[in-house]
Amino acid sequence: MKLTEYAKHLLLAPNLEDKLLPPNKHWDEEIEQNSIRIQKPGRNERIQFSDKKVKIPRLEHLNLESNRGLTLHHFANHELMAIELFAWAILAFPYASKSIRNGWIKTIEEEQTHLKLYIERMHQFGIQFGEIPLNYIFWKQLDQFHSVESFSAVMSLSFEGANLDYSQVYAKVFSYFGDEVTSEIMLTIFEDEIKHVKRGVRAFSKSIPAEHNSWDHYRSLISFPFTPRRAKGYLFFPETRTLAGLDENFVNQLGDYEDEYTGRVNLESVKKFGLGSELMRKNRLDSHPSQF
Ligand SMILES: [Fe+2]
Ligand SMILES: [Fe+2]
Repeated sequence: MKLTEYAKHLLLAPNLEDKLLPPNKHWDEEIEQNSIRIQKPGRNERIQFSDKKVKIPRLEHLNLESNRGLTLHHFANHELMAIELFAWAILAFPYASKSIRNGWIKTIEEEQTHLKLYIERMHQFGIQFGEIPLNYIFWKQLDQFHSVESFSAVMSLSFEGANLDYSQVYAKVFSYFGDEVTSEIMLTIFEDEIKHVKRGVRAFSKSIPAEHNSWDHYRSLISFPFTPRRAKGYLFFPETRTLAGLDENFVNQLGDYEDEYTGRVNLESVKKFGLGSELMRKNRLDSHPSQF
């Protein structure tokens, strides 16, 4: 199989199982070098895009298994879109370097693992994937994906970056409610997502012009109404971005960034959990054990 055939399969085959086909170790030689920008993925009835707004359960309601299941459904949807969009990038940017492309393939494989972890756990909470409307927030950014760099700025530095904060928040809150199994899942995903953001940072950093710093460059690659607010959670864990290879200025600027939507989340309920700024992690990412 050629890599582009595999990417087309992930994008256009309609069933959830199709999206979970793992990548090969070796690929047949490519002849086609044209950029293909697929506008919409193939999806069967059960996993169609929906414009219905579904609110993610409030943190204080995660004592209920059903709410934990709904929350994981929300996250699983992100994983599915990530699988499709990294496949999309393989087709859209045939000129990307081999190392970037290999990074995307590895990321796809890990997103597939994440999707399976969420689906298995939500089944235990009585929720089936596709039971709840699926938004297509990542797919809505297609017009911003002009280049490998802008794709990496939006997908990796922003969406996957924000996921570093959210995976920490939810690992802590699930643990607070005594659900260590789900908390562990969040930490496994957190650690993989550090690698994903790192891959994005590598792809993005190569193109920083001499007169720009990484923050200015990032700002130049994303366009309104998409703002850097999308690159962080309502709680920001700066250390996660440092672990992912972002420089100090970038991390500080991102921490300080506000737009008109900042502050809309009711942080009072978040504060109740006393989440703290220290990271939850497993040993393998513990690069500075003395500090934690
Ligand atoms: Fe993921
Ligand atoms: Fe990811």
